[in-house]
Amino acid sequence: MKKKVIAYNRVEKPVLEDLQKRYDVEFFKNIDTKKDPVFLKHLSQAEGIIGLELVVDRELLDQAPNLKIVSNVSVGYNNLNLDELKRRNIMATNTPGVLTDTVADTVFGILIATARRIPELDQFVKNGEWTSEAVEPDQFGTNVHHKKLGIIGMGRIGQAIAKRAHFGFDMDILYHSRTQKPSVEEKFAATYCELNELLSESDFICLITPLTPETEGLIGKREFQLMKKSAIFINGSRGKTVVEQDLIDALKAGAIAGAGLDVFEKEPIDPGNPLLKMKNVVSTPHIGSSTHETELEMSKLAAINLEAGLNGEKPPNLIDSSVWEMHK
Ligand code: NAP
Ligand code: GLV
Repeated sequence: MKKKVIAYNRVEKPVLEDLQKRYDVEFFKNIDTKKDPVFLKHLSQAEGIIGLELVVDRELLDQAPNLKIVSNVSVGYNNLNLDELKRRNIMATNTPGVLTDTVADTVFGILIATARRIPELDQFVKNGEWTSEAVEPDQFGTNVHHKKLGIIGMGRIGQAIAKRAHFGFDMDILYHSRTQKPSVEEKFAATYCELNELLSESDFICLITPLTPETEGLIGKREFQLMKKSAIFINGSRGKTVVEQDLIDALKAGAIAGAGLDVFEKEPIDPGNPLLKMKNVVSTPHIGSSTHETELEMSKLAAINLEAGLNGEKPPNLIDSSVWEMHK
């Protein structure tokens, strides 16, 4: 009998079709995972889960007595209760690396779009409002090149952003991470500093940490007040690393000049969210890694992790390797 696998939200079609040859795969999207009876029935038999942003908590795990592995199609894994997974000896994996350059491109794209007001002026042209030859100074943007970029979270993606900023845009780079990184400092002429200094010195502030208990609400009222009035804030991490109401208040009060946001406290965002009415906010629907090529690579890697776990082998991207020690 084929092993039961649940695929959730996103697994690219060729990968899903390939998995279906060897496993009994049920695909679910946009369901209430706590209540959907069909989902719960399959969950009770599932040995593996592969997918995006399924909240795997105690309640869900109580319904999944046969589960061996949860394979995230994402590098972030704040959707997983790792302690509860470990307690039950269930492996969990993610997809680091294959999306790094794509996410850095997205973050940098949003940064430029916000600084140069590209979406706003695109609408101006498309609305037929471009009626005089020269645009007015109140439509000018701000330079990106040669400015100071503060990166919070100098991991894989943070470093790929630093590379673009240093080699492509001659930017000065400040960074803050849990640990100092001499090799990054050498490669990209980056300077380590404490968070307060980074916030008050940077022209652009780019947040790209994971969402953890330590980073939840990392940027709030106090942090926005430390930023320059001309600063542009970019969030590519997770919505909850920022206190969204404080960001709204800071933008309304002119405490910062603008924001570029790929992630939001609630996704999908409520249509009535004040951020969506602000011209100085550029918003994208959590598309950091969403290119055809990269989503395929992520699905492939997640499938490799899943199959290893199902076959009793160590998955290459095990998040907590102490779970493997219990499996051996
Ligand atoms: P990574 O290589 O693990 O890097 C994470 C960085 O964050 C590390 O430098 C780490 O510091 C730093 N960090 C962790 N906790 C911190 C804290 N409390 N204060 C300051 N810095 C802290 O991960 P990655 O591959 O770059 O991905 C980072 C995150 O980006 C993901 O977890 C995900 O949430 C987000 N992401 C978003 C999208 C999107 O579509 N918008 C796509 C992919 C990823 P140390 O190096 O010192 O440990
Ligand atoms: C996307 O947000 C990811 O964490 O890969």
